[in-house]
Amino acid sequence: MKQIIAIYPGSFDPVTNGHLDLIQRASRLFNELIVAIARNPDKDAALFDLEERKEMLVAMTQDWSNVSVESFEGLLVNYVISRNANVVLRGIRAVSDYEFELQMALMNRKIDQRVETVFMLPAEKYSYLSSRIVREIAYLGGPLTGFVPELVEQRLRQKVQAKKA
Ligand code: PNS
Repeated sequence: MKQIIAIYPGSFDPVTNGHLDLIQRASRLFNELIVAIARNPDKDAALFDLEERKEMLVAMTQDWSNVSVESFEGLLVNYVISRNANVVLRGIRAVSDYEFELQMALMNRKIDQRVETVFMLPAEKYSYLSSRIVREIAYLGGPLTGFVPELVEQRLRQKVQAKKA
């Protein structure tokens, strides 16, 4: 039977419970799942640097034996092919995600026809969750329980404190 290696790309700045829900679902579906953190060309735009984002993701995915965490630079399709993967996995939370995801999936397939995108839905309770909103709540001192793992909450609090100091 064909081995399906899926790549789950994203910024993961930071990883949320919505990402982890999707990773768990996908780990049951694909033979191998590589969570791939995009190296942002504009380094200052991210709250956590690449190593910090990777460390949190590795810690939170260590129980799933077919899941690994990597980072990539440049075009996603080039990275997908270099890892012998067949599938790009993306989560769709609401209709509002669809337009951008459609554009990305079709563009990726146009650039390289071997790359197929598979969309999955996270649990409904995470449908309004995003890293951007989590960063904002953290910055404003709001509650984060249930949105991110405890480790990520601690890191967010530390980061915000350091930024405000
Ligand atoms: O978590 P995000 O920010 O929604 O992830 C977006 C990401 C990293 C998947 C996307 O920006 C991407 O694939 N970047 C790599 C560069 C690339 O291939 N761009 C063309 C996409 S059509």
